[in-house]
Amino acid sequence: MHLPDSPQRQPFYLDCDTGIDDAMAIAYLLASDRVDLLGIGTVSGNISAEMGARNTLALLELAGRSDIPVAIGEHDFLATPFAGGAIHVHGENGIGGVVLAEPARTPASESAPEMIVRLARQHPGELHILAIGPLTNLAKALLLHPGLATLVKEVTIMGGAALVPGNITAVAEANIHNDPDAAAAVFAASWFITMVPLDATMQSLIEAVDRDRLVASPRPVAQAIGAMLDTYFDFYVQFFGRRTSVLHDPLAAAVAVGDLGLGTSPVVQVQVDTSHGPGRGQTICDLRWRFLGHPEQAGAHIRVVLAVETDFTPLMVDAILSL
Ligand code: RIB
Ligand code: CA
Repeated sequence: MHLPDSPQRQPFYLDCDTGIDDAMAIAYLLASDRVDLLGIGTVSGNISAEMGARNTLALLELAGRSDIPVAIGEHDFLATPFAGGAIHVHGENGIGGVVLAEPARTPASESAPEMIVRLARQHPGELHILAIGPLTNLAKALLLHPGLATLVKEVTIMGGAALVPGNITAVAEANIHNDPDAAAAVFAASWFITMVPLDATMQSLIEAVDRDRLVASPRPVAQAIGAMLDTYFDFYVQFFGRRTSVLHDPLAAAVAVGDLGLGTSPVVQVQVDTSHGPGRGQTICDLRWRFLGHPEQAGAHIRVVLAVETDFTPLMVDAILSL
């Protein structure tokens, strides 16, 4: 499929670990007329980078979007090996056991970090990077090209927890906890980052009635994502007491596209705990001024989205149904 040219489309690169909510984020981006998705790279996280690429290629084929290249990224994290992922959350194949047709395409010959550098060079000052998995590929790309941060327009990250508990340890969110060293390197680079942490994503839920609409659709992407949600609901029922799930990655996608009204979202200093103690992977956000509003913090370049004001779920369900 060739997209109609639209001056309002922004060039995007997506880095992901596909993943049920990653699949929803991909669908959301494909449905947007404000996004020109130039490439997707995968990283180990929910599943291996290789399996994530396979899932991504299969989903793109289902959506009729085999024009988007998919590159396999880092299998292991900067300092630790990939240890098998989150199959208890996302199922053995990462997409809730849903069997998609074997993709006809193979992954790109370049690696995901190489793809990031190439796209940033081809679109200087324009590329928006959206990262919804561990940040290993981005950290490797910074090593490949030390000037990368100045070439990229901005980076949006699903990850971290500012004022709420973690989801993988008491204080750490999974994407950051998988590779805290990569996260620290990415946060230290000079690009502008929007961090969409658990504070925002845990507030955005998709319900059984939404799942039923997706499954009842005649469209294959909606059907597939509806079916994936059954596995996600199996996991989240223990936290919410009903069949529902949170929308981590698609919410970050919508923030990146600019589709949502943001609640309190100060630009502050953020540090990542790279120790091997109980704080490992914590994102320490300097929110001391939250009661009176945040003054400018010298050198701060990370916007922390503590809440969104738009009711996101209907937007997302409609987007998926439109594919
Ligand atoms: O903590 C939530 C994040 O971890 C999401 O990106 C999910 O897909 C997993 O990667
Ligand atoms: Ca993810």
